[in-house]
Amino acid sequence: MSDRINERRHEGRTAVITGAAAGIGRAYALRLAAEGAAVAVLDRADGTAVVKEIADAGGRAIAVQADLTDPASVVAAQGEIAEQFGPVDVLVNNAGIYPNQPFDTMTFEDWRAVFTLNVDALFHTAKAFTPGMRERGWGRIVNMTSNSIGLVIPGFAHYVASKMGVIGFTRGLATDLADAGITVNAIAPSLVRTATAEAGPAEFFDAVPQLQAIHRVQVPEDLTGMLSFLVSDDAAFVTGQTLYVDGGLVRS
Ligand SMILES: NC(=O)c1ccc[n+]([C@@H]2O[C@H](COP(=O)([O-])OP(=O)(O)OC[C@H]3O[C@@H](n4cnc5c(N)ncnc54)[C@H](O)[C@@H]3O)[C@@H](O)[C@H]2O)c1
Repeated sequence: MSDRINERRHEGRTAVITGAAAGIGRAYALRLAAEGAAVAVLDRADGTAVVKEIADAGGRAIAVQADLTDPASVVAAQGEIAEQFGPVDVLVNNAGIYPNQPFDTMTFEDWRAVFTLNVDALFHTAKAFTPGMRERGWGRIVNMTSNSIGLVIPGFAHYVASKMGVIGFTRGLATDLADAGITVNAIAPSLVRTATAEAGPAEFFDAVPQLQAIHRVQVPEDLTGMLSFLVSDDAAFVTGQTLYVDGGLVRS
């Protein structure tokens, strides 16, 4: 499947995409860069392969390594990005974990590990990157939630709780930052074919697409058009929303 590139739509913008060394975040980085944004691939893992893909296609990107669960690491990353690219216009909070684990064997440490990245890290990145957006009176934040909040499959009590938290934070932040020209929205995919998802229970890939209106397995590129829209000027009056891009599984 190929993206429908909206040429140079994001020219002059700088975007930070967390968890962009792989999976959905990588697809987001490639799309925004193809449309003219300078992209910071912010990941705990090495993002230089994605940066090379972007550079080979004529785009502009840097890889910045940070552990998003550590506030000091996020502050250091913000400094590094500011030094190389200047202020950030777009923040995509994509990094997340989704370990499948029945509640009976789930420990509090397991619960906290999910919340520390999926929810707490969004606080850290918002603290680090929104002051610059506020100063310039323009900003876009997009957070990744999941349609599993509407279709709860076994073994995800911590994950579903965290992704509901993402929606709550999206609504609260949208309210508090609207006067600064900053919009905050969330994207809810279905089960998406990434290496991490494929390492989970294989039966999900048979069962979940059958529940969608569109029965094929979702791929990262299915999400990039919505991201591109949400971070564009066209979406200036869209905020506090959760957009389901899930093949019509959740028909809300
Ligand atoms: N794949 C799916 O089926 C699916 C479905 C719904 C929602 N989502 C959400 O989409 C997002 C991306 O999912 P994916 O499947 O592409 O994931 P992925 O595992 O392919 O990529 C996640 C990236 O986050 C990075 N990361 C993990 N912990 C980090 C940390 N502490 N600090 C910095 N970076 C860290 C990893 O290195 C990795 O590159 C997640 O928020 C996930 O919950 C995924």
